[in-house]
Amino acid sequence: MSFPVTRLRRMRQSEPLRALVRETRLTPSNFIYPLFVCPGEGIRKEISSMPGVFNISVDEAVKEAHEAKSLGLGGLILFGLPESKDETGTGAWAEDGIIQRATRAIKKEVRDVVVIGDVCLCEYTSHGHCGIVAKKSADYEILNDPTLELLAQMAVAQARAGMDIVAPSDMMDGRVAAIRKALDQAGFANTPILSYAAKFASGFYGPFREAADSAPQFGDRRSYQMDGPNLREAMREIQLDIEEGADMIMVKPAMPYLDVIAEAHRRFDVPLSAYQVSGEYSMLQAAIRNGWLDRDRVILESLTSIRRAGAQMILTYFAKDAARLLG
Ligand code: PBG
Repeated sequence: MSFPVTRLRRMRQSEPLRALVRETRLTPSNFIYPLFVCPGEGIRKEISSMPGVFNISVDEAVKEAHEAKSLGLGGLILFGLPESKDETGTGAWAEDGIIQRATRAIKKEVRDVVVIGDVCLCEYTSHGHCGIVAKKSADYEILNDPTLELLAQMAVAQARAGMDIVAPSDMMDGRVAAIRKALDQAGFANTPILSYAAKFASGFYGPFREAADSAPQFGDRRSYQMDGPNLREAMREIQLDIEEGADMIMVKPAMPYLDVIAEAHRRFDVPLSAYQVSGEYSMLQAAIRNGWLDRDRVILESLTSIRRAGAQMILTYFAKDAARLLG
């Protein structure tokens, strides 16, 4: 041979060698498992667009918490389906709201499992928007500042129920500061905030809206969630949330926004999470169920790519499956 060949393949010859030089590793403690909690007892109703994901009652949520702990998952995030919905999303902050009840039940039965509360009104409002709606003849507006008070009340109600972390996902401006202030005043200075800081208006949330019954009844979320093409604006969103007091940040969705995750990882020192959202899950499940993709490989490969981009925590509907694959 007349030229020297750089032999990178030497290190790929066997699994032990590959494991030795592997740069990115997944552990179950990276994963946060979303639960959709509904009223009733003994309920486990599969979401048709998300095979393997269920609307579950509080008693079933406690079982899930036990399982999450035994699998070594990093935590759970709770979404609520209230008994009834109204204009201002009362069920979101009521002391006996569904998420508050689920948190109390889990905290009573299961020790040492991290429970995160999604703080947003859309699952609880009759119109399905994440904030207070002002109707202006044929048009409407989602009001920013009046919504902040309700989000702050919701976060405090969750903290009172024993929530370990509150996670605002509404994308109103100034919500992190409002929530921090309200938590501090209510005696919850030690409750951390995980901010959905860079949350994009995405087509990939479709199946979630079936799961949480939260599709907007009119219009869409583009006036408050971020415009997909904007990376630099995402950095401003994150910067502001950190200045307002966010302890942890999130980029969402994950796979179509891996560049945003990577840039956030480079720029900011706070713990970074990413949400592998419902549409990412459903897309993979559909192909897996058709026999078009190899289940175990694509679950781990998709999660590894998010981890490699720089997210240390991944919210994923595959949390339990992935933990079992790693186990
Ligand atoms: C609430 C919220 C949504 C998701 C998480 N929190 C829905 C939305 O913004 O429409 C989506 C999660 C998923 O798609 O898995 N605002």
